[in-house]
Amino acid sequence: MTTYFNNGVYADKETIKVSIDDRGYYFGDGVYEVIKVYDGKLYTDQEHFTRFLQSAKKIRMDLPYTIDEFTGIAKKLAADNGIVEGHVYIQATRGAAPRMHNFPGEEVEPMITAYAIHNPRPLSKIKEGVAVKTTDDIRWLRCDIKSLNLLGNVLAKQEAYDAGCAEAVFVRDGIVTEGSSSNMFGVKDGILYTHPATNLILNGITRRVILQLCAKHSIGVMEEPFTLEQFKEMDELFLTSTTSEITPIVSIDGKIVGDGAPGRVTERLQQVFEETIHELKMEIN
Ligand code: PDD
Repeated sequence: MTTYFNNGVYADKETIKVSIDDRGYYFGDGVYEVIKVYDGKLYTDQEHFTRFLQSAKKIRMDLPYTIDEFTGIAKKLAADNGIVEGHVYIQATRGAAPRMHNFPGEEVEPMITAYAIHNPRPLSKIKEGVAVKTTDDIRWLRCDIKSLNLLGNVLAKQEAYDAGCAEAVFVRDGIVTEGSSSNMFGVKDGILYTHPATNLILNGITRRVILQLCAKHSIGVMEEPFTLEQFKEMDELFLTSTTSEITPIVSIDGKIVGDGAPGRVTERLQQVFEETIHELKMEIN
């Protein structure tokens, strides 16, 4: 039996009923988070739940739980479902009300659902790298919100899959923004490049870990917009996300990156990232 969380209740997935009038279903009117579980422990949960509350605030939605309460829910789901390596998914919608675009009345409560699922680390992709495909960034201008509205991302990911690639790289006005479900990084002459954390990208939690690791290990960083041409000429490319961790990019639009193998800086960052996972595993809680 898989236990899900639904507005304060832990129950079997099959018994949870969500209204057909839910605004998540009608409008994608809600926000979400994905938190990695290593060795049964949550990785960067504080950061994820802080962003969850921030995303909710940005769409003018009040969530009924604190960061600590959300952490408790996620921990319980991971424990009750025996998740050793996987992730917790959590979403909050503006609740159920007859379909109308404007917000429902105060009496309508947010609908919060969450589950924990087994999901092994994509180790071969992390080691060998993946191919990516560029596509127009057709999304809205609030990509900083981790919104349930993911149609632009879904279409881009499928376009990449149809071309035999693992990820789509969004390009807006000639500038590389991010991936369909990841952040993009390039390395040129030992310096790391990534799009600044503006409204045009989601400021990934993994992205933030990378920037902290760069500061700690004296790797130079430029958080500045760069063009697709510049991106394609970089020595190394990689993408990051909660589930992909640091995945090297070995080809882009069919063009080989560097010598076609994961780069030196990428591998160094993978190594120090691995240490953060190891530290989590060693924590006693
Ligand atoms: N996606 N940019 C976008 C558009 C994303 O959807 C994600 C994550 C990221 C990376 O964020 P983080 O490092 O916090 O996971 C960047 C999640 C994993 C998903 O939708 O499944």
